Amino acid sequence: MRVAVTGANGLLGGAAVALLAGRHEVLALGRGPCRLPPGPHRWAAVDLGDGSSAGEALRAFRAEAVLHAGALTDVDGCERDPDAAWRVNVGGTEQVARACRELGARLVAVSTDYVFDGEAGPYGEEDLPNPRGAYARTKRCGEEAALLLAPGCAVARVAVVFSGRPGAKATFATQVVEKLSRGEPVRAFADQVVSPTLAASGAAMCLELLLESGYRGVLHASGATALDRVDFARRVARRFGLSGEIVGVATADARLPAPRPLRAGLRVDRAAGLLREKPLPVDEAIDRFHAEWQGRAG
Ligand SMILES: NC(=O)c1ccc[n+]([C@@H]2O[C@H](COP(=O)([O-])OP(=O)(O)OC[C@H]3O[C@@H](n4cnc5c(N)ncnc54)[C@H](OP(=O)(O)O)[C@@H]3O)[C@@H](O)[C@H]2O)c1
Repeated sequence: MRVAVTGANGLLGGAAVALLAGRHEVLALGRGPCRLPPGPHRWAAVDLGDGSSAGEALRAFRAEAVLHAGALTDVDGCERDPDAAWRVNVGGTEQVARACRELGARLVAVSTDYVFDGEAGPYGEEDLPNPRGAYARTKRCGEEAALLLAPGCAVARVAVVFSGRPGAKATFATQVVEKLSRGEPVRAFADQVVSPTLAASGAAMCLELLLESGYRGVLHASGATALDRVDFARRVARRFGLSGEIVGVATADARLPAPRPLRAGLRVDRAAGLLREKPLPVDEAIDRFHAEWQGRAG
């Protein structure tokens, strides 16, 4: 099958391209040059914010299935530049969804727990979104663009994506490892409850959703455990055999430009019932993160 992945230089998209290698004909789409390890995929440099280049690349490839993982994910950057956030997260999803409709291609668009306000998580698929901040609002609008414009599409929500894959970008989990290894303290938001999602696991769930399931609508495809960031950091530290100081701080004290949902997290019972690839309990995800990290070092 001809499968396209947007955001292919990213955490989730990169993991998806790796999982697809050798199983399907793959077009990887990303901003600028390819930063993935060499593989059998083709590459298309596109700008999701320009209104056309991603759609054109999908049409030229005659995509049959598309995992749309490209987005502006810098939450504070989106707050500072809501126009860019809208162009990429809404406009980019719109052009991908329109191309999928024209091609009759199945679409899975990746979204976020940030569509919820974080007053009463963890949230199920039936809970009503109430996004706060530019990133959250553009991702919510992107969900609607996908659901409206690409019939039969699925929206897969993930949260706090992390990866130890070589070349993968820094995340909270990698910073915990790096800082504690250098003997530096780690500051973690004690009041943010999240459902950390190992990129490879989230990508595997999204691909099963895309290629094997006809599920339509929203599905929560994050890790299976909702916990606060201090707890998450401590579990990462324990698995890596790292001691050192992990200091809990309050989100409000950081005076970040964009609001964060506090009691967030996603309930994943539906994905657990639907998919062979199960949402991972956090310690299992950290075990796999540790194995990825060992591979990077070796
Ligand atoms: N990361 C998280 O913690 C998190 C949490 C919840 C939901 N999500 C969602 O999960 C999905 C995958 O994100 P991720 O975790 O893989 O984050 P990521 O590593 O930041 O990946 C996003 C990718 O989109 C690309 N991109 C940004 N602007 C673009 C543009 N104008 N044109 C083309 N590509 C562009 C980025 O390119 P560059 O690599 O060049 O920057 C990046 O490779 C997104 O829908 C995101 O909203 C992520």
